[in-house]
This record gives sequence, C-alpha cells and structure tokens, in this order.
Amino acid sequence: MCGIVGYLGNREAALILINGLKRLEYRGYDSAGIATLSNGDMFVVKEVGKIRKLEEAIAEKTPPGTVGIGHTRWATHGKPNQINAHPHTDCSGKIVLIHNGIIENYSVLKQLLEKTGHSFKSDTDTEIVAHLIEELYDGTNFEQAFREALQRIEGTFGIAVLNKDEPDKIYVARKGSPIVIGVGEDEYFVASDVTPLIPHTRNVFYLEDDEMAILTRQGIITKTIQNKVVEKQVQRITLQLDDIEKQGFEHYMLKEIFEQPKTIMDTMRGRILREEGLVKLGGLAEVEDKLMHAGRIIIVASGTSWHAGLIGEYLLEEFCRIPVEVEYASEFRYRNPIINENDIIIAISQSGETADTLAALREGKHKGALVLGIVNAVGSTIARETHAGVYIHAGPEIGVASTKAFTSQVTALVLITILIARKKYMSVVQGKQMLDDLQKIPANVEKILAQNDYIRELAETYYSQRNFLYLGRGYNFPVALEGALKLKEISYIHAEGYPAAEMKHGPIALIDENMPVVFIATQDAIYDKVISNIQEVKARKGRVICVANEGDEQIEKHADHVIYIPYTCKALTPLLSVIPLQLLAYHIAVLRGCDVDQPRNLAKSVTVE
Ligand code: F6R
Repeated sequence: MCGIVGYLGNREAALILINGLKRLEYRGYDSAGIATLSNGDMFVVKEVGKIRKLEEAIAEKTPPGTVGIGHTRWATHGKPNQINAHPHTDCSGKIVLIHNGIIENYSVLKQLLEKTGHSFKSDTDTEIVAHLIEELYDGTNFEQAFREALQRIEGTFGIAVLNKDEPDKIYVARKGSPIVIGVGEDEYFVASDVTPLIPHTRNVFYLEDDEMAILTRQGIITKTIQNKVVEKQVQRITLQLDDIEKQGFEHYMLKEIFEQPKTIMDTMRGRILREEGLVKLGGLAEVEDKLMHAGRIIIVASGTSWHAGLIGEYLLEEFCRIPVEVEYASEFRYRNPIINENDIIIAISQSGETADTLAALREGKHKGALVLGIVNAVGSTIARETHAGVYIHAGPEIGVASTKAFTSQVTALVLITILIARKKYMSVVQGKQMLDDLQKIPANVEKILAQNDYIRELAETYYSQRNFLYLGRGYNFPVALEGALKLKEISYIHAEGYPAAEMKHGPIALIDENMPVVFIATQDAIYDKVISNIQEVKARKGRVICVANEGDEQIEKHADHVIYIPYTCKALTPLLSVIPLQLLAYHIAVLRGCDVDQPRNLAKSVTVE
C-alpha cells in the first residue's frame, strides 16, 4: 500500500527512483511522483496513473540531482489526482516529503495550521506533515522540527523528507509502515520493501516503530524519534533479481502460478524427516511443547491468507485434535477477544505488513498469548513481532492476487500439523504417508499446469458471464472461497464461494442458465453428497464446471465441463484443487482486458486498516 523510494549518492537520482517505483508499483498505482534537489533548487514531478506516465513525463527533461525521493500512491485521503499525488511541499517550498500510512489527527492539525496561516493545496493527510514541520522549524534545527512533528502525529507513517537547507540529507522515519534502508558504496537507499534495492545493494537494515534515520553523504545516523541513539545491524538479503522479474511470462500472476511446483517444494525443503515421518521446523523449535499442549489455536489473517487459515483449522482439528478458531484480523483486533491460558495465536500473512493482522497479533500478545507467524516476507514487521514462526519461502509475490503464497501457506500449515500430530495421535506410518503425499504435490501441480491451454479455452466459454458461484465441501470449501475471491478481484465478475450444501439455504434462488457454478468435487467421503448438489444445480439449468479427480468418468454425466486433477489424500487436496481456479480466474481476467497484476482499487500490502 503506497510505495516509497529514496536515493542519496553520486548517480542521477531520478532514474533510480523511477526504476525503484516500477518495482514497487504493485503496492499502489493510482498516481506517482518524485522530487529531487540540485544546486539549491527543488524539482517535483507528479502524474496520475501508472509509473509509466511519470516516466514519460520526465523523459524529455529529467529532474537533475543526486538526491531524491519518490512515491507510488494508493489513495486513502483524497481522490487519485495530480494534486493529491506525493511528494507534498510546505508553503515555502523548502520542504518536500512522501508518506505511507494514515495521519489520524490530520483534521485537527489542519485546523491549527490554518489558524497560523498555512494554506493547503491537496485533500491529503500527508500534506499536513510538510506544513507541521515548517511550523516547527526555526530555520536552524531541521532535525528537531522533524522529530517534534512526528511526535504530534497520531496514526501510522513511513516517511521520507528532503529540505532545501540541507540538500545532502534525507530524513526518514517509521511508525506502522515499513521502511528499509539500503547501504551501498558511497550511496544510500530508502524503500518500503527491499525490491527496489536489489539491483543496487544487498546490505540493508529495517527501521522499527518510532525510529528514524538521517541519510547523509558521510553515513547514516539512526535514533528514535525521541532522540535516543540506536545502533542498527546491517543484514544481507539473499533475493536475486530473477526473483522479481517476469521471466518471459505475460504477467507476474501467471509466472507465480507456474512457480508453484518450486515454491511448494521450497516451503518443505530441509523440513522433512521422511523415515521417521517427522517434520522439523527450526523457527518453532522452542515452542513445540507449548504447541502440543495448546488449549486452543486462534488463526488471525485477512483475505487469501484467511482462506489458508480455514484449511489450517480443518487440518489442526482433524489431526491434532486442538480446537481452532479462524478470525478475520480486522474483527479480532476490536472485539476484545477472550484469550485463555494455553491459547496460541497464529498470524498468517504473505506481506507480513497487513495492518489488521499486525494489530490482531499485538492485541493477542498484549493479552498474554504466545503469537506465532506464518509469513512470506523475510524481515517484515509481523515476522519480527511474533514470538516464533515459520517462513514459507515462496519468494517475492508481485502479482496483487495472491497465488503461490496461498499454496505455500497451506504447505506450512500441513507441516505444523504433522509436527504436532506426530507428538500426539499420528503414528510414524501415518506421518510418513502424509509426507510422501506432500512430496508428490509439486509433480502433481505440474500436471495441472500442463492443462493451461484447456483452461484458457474454458475461460473463452465463460468470460462474458456476470456472476459465478463456487461450491465445495470439507477441505474444498475454503478453496471455493479462494476461487471466488481470485475471480472477483482480477476480473471484476461478481463471484461467491459457499459450502456446497449451504446452497439450498439461499443461493439456489440465483441458479439459472446464466449462472455458471464451479464445483470442487474431488473423491472423498462426501463425494456422493457433492454429486447430489451438482444435480440440484443442473435441475435448475445452471451451467456446471467441475474440478474432479482423474479417472472419475461418472462426473462427466453431471457437468458441462470437467477439469481433472490428480488424486491426493483429502487433507492435501486444496494444494491441487486451487490451481485450476487460479488459472481460470487469470484467463477470464485477461480475456476481459483487465490488468491482472494491478487490479483496480487494490494494493498488494494493505498497511492501513
Ligand atoms: C487476495 C489477496 C489479499 C491478501 C490480503 C492479506 O488475492 O492477495 O486478500 O491475501 O490482503 O494479505 P497478507 O497475506 O499480505 O497479509
């Protein structure tokens, strides 16, 4: 949600900023802008739309300077127009800044500043900060004004500021919105995640909440915004440039769907002791006992990660016999949840930065729970704030619609389940069997991906529909929810996921020849019941697409179209059944001319509540 970049060095800042913004565009993409300083002048360029518009705007006359900041926006306060785009300046035009987050007390501050003569150009909360610093700046001690301003702000910020009086410095601070600083040779970078830094440096450190940094040509000063010096350890990131490129695929989303055989394998790598039917998760080593004796597990997450959490509930309850609740993080955080002794919270998040999930885990921690994380983004806030956890190692997910992170989250949940279950009710033989099945998943995903052309043809039949229903039971119910979410978020077709049997309690009223219904009808104990549900739809002229197991010929009698997937044990089925639904959503969205990697109104990491 909004992306920030900054550069201070000896190279032309504008080009580095534009390239950095392109890598951050997935975080927000309704408008963008950059500011540079050179020879006492400030240059600000802003454009509505994608970064490419900004790039075109600066192509003829590149703003000069070797220091600069840039921003790609996902609107919260104020429409996405040029005036509201960042960077924002103060009245004097001396101070320019970019901001990620929300200033909650902005209207109070605005009124106060108006009384002292400030006038505002935009409708944003961010502009207030430039004016507040200006108000507090006595012309000599900019740092003090910066710190004081931040202490008066309520809300969240990842912020970077330039000022003409100190043209060789970037002031940066963080509260609630991530900031990473890259340390190159005689050059420094700021960003809201590591992706823009990778072409330039692998040496980084993260700011914690209430910390700030001053980037100068002589080095970086780090302290708290209360002016207490803090020492930061530079860490090395291992991401490769290839990890964040499209590698010949038309879209990141397609690349990420096709990466899943590898990413699922990466989640398992080094964590399986096949002969003993055991799982080893280094990140949970110290809390294994507590997990085994958990009275209840509460999973908090949002969106697709929440769907993975629902599968986690089925797994943990079935195999570990631990009661599980799966909560929307946004609800959990405000409803004064009851946390009992021995309750364990698991926060699931791809980005590790989702504001609601972070707040939910903080609330759980505050009430004394042990809080664990299942996170993709290494070093992210959720990863750092949980007591222990499991990284899913799916690599950067750039497409806004989550795909590979989902299957890796489910894989991590399977591993955690086996870890606990083997200490309780699962025998070595059962453990081995489940791990064998899990290790076959990547090859089975390959088989489904090989049907990409067939699924594209299917999409051609259905892409002009206005509504879709997705139905599944048991482990496939969360997959139905996920299939519907994928379709609606990237193709803007209305889609709903339901437990198949619930259909007759309401949604059946919607069924007619214009309602395609996607059934996930894999062979398990309730297969026959799903067949009955399919018949109920067919009897009302609904059009049925089934995801079924290879060899299930009888299903063809009931369905208009069938997508076959290999058989696996029912607990692992979601890892396979979700793949065709991802591909179907992708192809339908492409056929409708939608921007699949950057769907309207969405952002990859939702750092505002
Ligand atoms: C949907 C999607 C979102 C995210 C949700 C949580 O495709 O990507 O629903 O799953 O915003 O994000 P994370 O997992 O980063 O906490």
